Amino acid sequence: MSTTNVYEQVQERYAEGAQQRQEALCCPVDYDQSLLKALPQEIIDKDYGCGDPSRYVRAGDRVLDLGSGGGKICYMAAQLVGEQGSVTGVDMTDDMLALARKYQEPMAQTLGGDRVSFKKGYIQDLALDVAAMETYLAAQPVSNAQDVQRLSTWQETQRRESPLIADETMTLVISNCVLNLVAEADRRRMISEIYRVLTPGGRVAISDIVADEPVPEALKNDPALWSGCISGAFHEGAFLDAFVEAGFVGVAYDKWDAEPWQVVAGIEFRSVTLIATKPETAEDYDGGHAVLYKGPYAQVQDEKGRIYPRGQRMAVSRCTYGTLMNSGHANDFIGFAPHETQNRGGFCKPAGATRSAAETKGTVQTSSSSGGGC
Ligand SMILES: C[S@@+](CC[C@H](N)C(=O)[O-])C[C@H]1O[C@@H](n2cnc3c(N)ncnc32)[C@H](O)[C@@H]1O
Repeated sequence: MSTTNVYEQVQERYAEGAQQRQEALCCPVDYDQSLLKALPQEIIDKDYGCGDPSRYVRAGDRVLDLGSGGGKICYMAAQLVGEQGSVTGVDMTDDMLALARKYQEPMAQTLGGDRVSFKKGYIQDLALDVAAMETYLAAQPVSNAQDVQRLSTWQETQRRESPLIADETMTLVISNCVLNLVAEADRRRMISEIYRVLTPGGRVAISDIVADEPVPEALKNDPALWSGCISGAFHEGAFLDAFVEAGFVGVAYDKWDAEPWQVVAGIEFRSVTLIATKPETAEDYDGGHAVLYKGPYAQVQDEKGRIYPRGQRMAVSRCTYGTLMNSGHANDFIGFAPHETQNRGGFCKPAGATRSAAETKGTVQTSSSSGGGC
């Protein structure tokens, strides 16, 4: 299928799904029932998710839900972010946006505050404000090559000056069964957009469908299979690789359904939840932090090649410490913050060095001169 066809087919299918529940698009999910209680039945019925990324939401998060559909995950997340947090849903299908917005006011009353907004956009181009573009097009329809050029200039200016989702504004990006619907040609851009909008240290939790074997072209060209969240599925290995290539760390499957959701032409399509973290990028230096990998493996190695042997207190920079301890893998490590915050130059351990307990406690500073870590 061509890229344009993909979006037309998907929009058509989910416009129908917003009008009437589509059984074929429903995948059984074990949601947190206490969060569902506050939701209108129509939103629960028109649920086309395949996992529950709301489980990764923390108080105070600024959450972006990619392909928010009827708004179920947004309204669940709104119950978890608290008064300081916010939830933004982005979707390209008008009927889905209308369904989600229909309950915005009653939900704000139920939850005691309006923390949710729904925006029209493409998840592979999160800077483009599609509603604003439609207003522009209504006033200046495109009918010749010069108009196309003008539209392109307008888009560039709009993305730069008033992006739909601005750089580094979200602390958590979630999505439920949507990335597989994006055209393959746009996927690299989609993941780099997720990276762009996240704050340093921001997290990703994506529930989606993956395939255990490469999907043949004949299946990919079947519009019903593509829009039905099947033939556009990432290959199970490529999905992780795509996030590593985009610069994320701590990329892992946190949930994996042993039972496939569908089997087509012998290929298993199953629901998974991928988690990842955008590394901290603040000025980095050795401030005296250490982490100890708890096991059970002899050692683990991160995306940057750093090795953490089991049971050893390893010296890590301030940013590596922040990224690790804020990630979905924090429970695999014990973190030791320095007794007193050390300024640049206070400690200077080379990468891969151990750090004595005494040093972390601030009683003895065993190394202050060796290079490589600062
Ligand atoms: C399978 S449904 C999932 C909806 C919702 N996440 C849920 O859990 O019920 C896919 C949704 O993603 C939207 N969508 C698909 N591709 C998109 C894209 N490229 N940009 C924005 N929205 C997209 C569709 O309009 C639809 O609402």
